[in-house]
Amino acid sequence: MQLFRANIAHFPTPNTASSTFAEDIVVIHDGGLVIDGKKIIATGSFSSMREQYPNAVLHDHKDSWILPGLIDSHLHYPQTESIASYGEQLLSWLENYTFPTEKQFANVEHAQKIAKVFLQQLLKNGTTTGFVFSSVHQGCCNALFSAASEIDMAIVAGKVCMDRNCPADLQDCPETAQKDSAVLIEKWHNTGRNRYAITPRFAPTSSEAQLAALGELATQYKDVFVQTHLSENVDEIAWVKSLFPKASGYLDVYDKYNLVRPRAVFGHGIHLSSEEWQRLGEADATLAFCPTSNLFLGSGLFDLQTARANNVHVALATDVGAGTSFSMLKTYGDAYKVSQLRHAPIDPIEGFYLMTQGAAVAHKLDDEIGNLNPDTVADFIIVTPRYDELMELRIKPNAEFDDVFFALSILGDDRAIAETWISGQCCYNKKETHYAMA
Ligand code: GUN
Ligand code: ZN
Repeated sequence: MQLFRANIAHFPTPNTASSTFAEDIVVIHDGGLVIDGKKIIATGSFSSMREQYPNAVLHDHKDSWILPGLIDSHLHYPQTESIASYGEQLLSWLENYTFPTEKQFANVEHAQKIAKVFLQQLLKNGTTTGFVFSSVHQGCCNALFSAASEIDMAIVAGKVCMDRNCPADLQDCPETAQKDSAVLIEKWHNTGRNRYAITPRFAPTSSEAQLAALGELATQYKDVFVQTHLSENVDEIAWVKSLFPKASGYLDVYDKYNLVRPRAVFGHGIHLSSEEWQRLGEADATLAFCPTSNLFLGSGLFDLQTARANNVHVALATDVGAGTSFSMLKTYGDAYKVSQLRHAPIDPIEGFYLMTQGAAVAHKLDDEIGNLNPDTVADFIIVTPRYDELMELRIKPNAEFDDVFFALSILGDDRAIAETWISGQCCYNKKETHYAMA
């Protein structure tokens, strides 16, 4: 048994219409978190935890913060090396940078090498769960799940499916997309902490036959995730309209094939009609809000207020490599700037919710991750906000959590992440630049 001493912040319950984020958050100054093996046992004041668990091994991080491991709800691991590629908007960015980079993942050794670098970036930034697109290659997806399994990390991932409008050597077909995805589901879904997401890249790169095949698979495997992109860019939306003239809108393309449902995670949703907002809410689906990506590709400003009004689940995400940082802290920092441009600032407590419990609730994983409740898995981070002269000046020693989190999100990044714990094991320690992975 181990006892961690630090300030603690988390949301033990889902936010509902009858409570505010400020009411829901639990903050314990000089708190104690007790873990036993892979599980969280208890949280409370340090003195009460010490009294109840006198034999627990002490880790003293007084003045730091313990938070649940952060959840990144949409990103692309093959794009790790093409992050920060200059000058394009979505469609030409895909042609010029993304597809050429993803071609390399036909080589399994390359995939294994990048999977490791990618997971190390997550750990370094305090991200303990990612919703990850692999490339079209089955081996690329296997490489990621294998690497994540080594450290018992809860990853949700899927092989990208695309059978048109992309280079020939990146194409599968309806039959192989269905068959290869089924093989991956059988091998990885609910194996250890892995989960599978059926992953059509986006409507323009899938034929109707392929979407139908993936819809069949989704119907067969009711608890798998679905992930794709939706209404990110105006040229993309016009293209979808010309490719699917019978659909009533972009979302309808997916809906026709039963891909709009609980545990479906749609990246972006920047330019949605009121019918689409309503349908996403009814369907219990999730939008991944990717502010650094939306700014980088000039895609537009996500409308969180309308999402709230339609009861649409929203989870924050980096969307690396169109996103410009692996840091979920910086991601909220840019979400805040987007919301300022919309004259509706997102307060830091809500920002924190959207990368922890809010994401876990949206994905129906809150009995395992996203909070520090007893019996959940011990995925948590130790954050040291006052890590340099500027942060010491800006963040007062007894500052409240919302101010600490806001300053970290605007000024900070991985420098604030002291340790990342997954399944009760320290997988990253900043001081020793130590990663648990070989
Ligand atoms: N739409 C289709 N593919 C992609 C991708 O890789 N990144 C982003 N941001 N949008 C996409
Ligand atoms: Zn994406």
